[in-house]
Amino acid sequence: MDFKPSIKTTKDGSHTLFLEGMNETYHSTNGAIQEANHVFIKNGIKLIHKTEISVLEVGFGTGLNAILTCNYANENSILTNYVGLETVPLKIDLINKLNYLSENKELSKTDFVSIHNCEWEEPNLINDTFILTKMNIEVQNFKSQLKFDVVYYDAFGPRAQSEMWDKLIFKSLFNLINSGGKLVTYCAMGQFKRDLKEVGFSVECVPGPPGKREMTIAHKE
Ligand SMILES: C[S@@+](CC[C@H](N)C(=O)[O-])C[C@H]1O[C@@H](n2cnc3c(N)ncnc32)[C@H](O)[C@@H]1O
Repeated sequence: MDFKPSIKTTKDGSHTLFLEGMNETYHSTNGAIQEANHVFIKNGIKLIHKTEISVLEVGFGTGLNAILTCNYANENSILTNYVGLETVPLKIDLINKLNYLSENKELSKTDFVSIHNCEWEEPNLINDTFILTKMNIEVQNFKSQLKFDVVYYDAFGPRAQSEMWDKLIFKSLFNLINSGGKLVTYCAMGQFKRDLKEVGFSVECVPGPPGKREMTIAHKE
């Protein structure tokens, strides 16, 4: 894979990263913050009605989903244990150029800095409600005693990184999700949804973020 990302501005004004060699962006070019809020907050953590929630993110990247979740957890007093998996952690000088704090004034700069400066491979208390563990590991090798209420599946798309859409990954993620938990993703491809059903999820299609007709919520009943 090509890992020399450049910054691009998306249609809602927020930044994303672009990998030229893969011709792939980290977020929708229709709006990075808009997409993250729609897919992972509105159709992800918000649908879990608990006061303590565990979140697994596959593809931590810029930490955009993490800071939005941290903000949501804090506003709603939900104790959130967030584990983010990432194979290629981004350099801090690149992260510092991203405009997420200026594009969403609700986000805490202190929390954003802690999210990015904290240690990998260990739990970090970012604030009273948000505990973050960043792990430099492939999802294919991830094992956990902790089970999760919601999995944010935010891998590159099937065209750019087909191995991330292998049924075996979703089989092991199914086993890592609590009953009543969910896996959410922007992807709504037919084969992917059939694979989710085969490994045990019930699959719901809901409207996607602007520019995308549908997204997927997979429920573990
Ligand atoms: C679409 S981008 C993630 C966007 C990210 N959630 C954000 O908000 O910036 C996909 C991410 O998955 C990471 N990745 C690639 N292969 C992976 C793997 N096998 N396991 C976990 N993460 C992987 C990439 O390095 C990249 O950061």
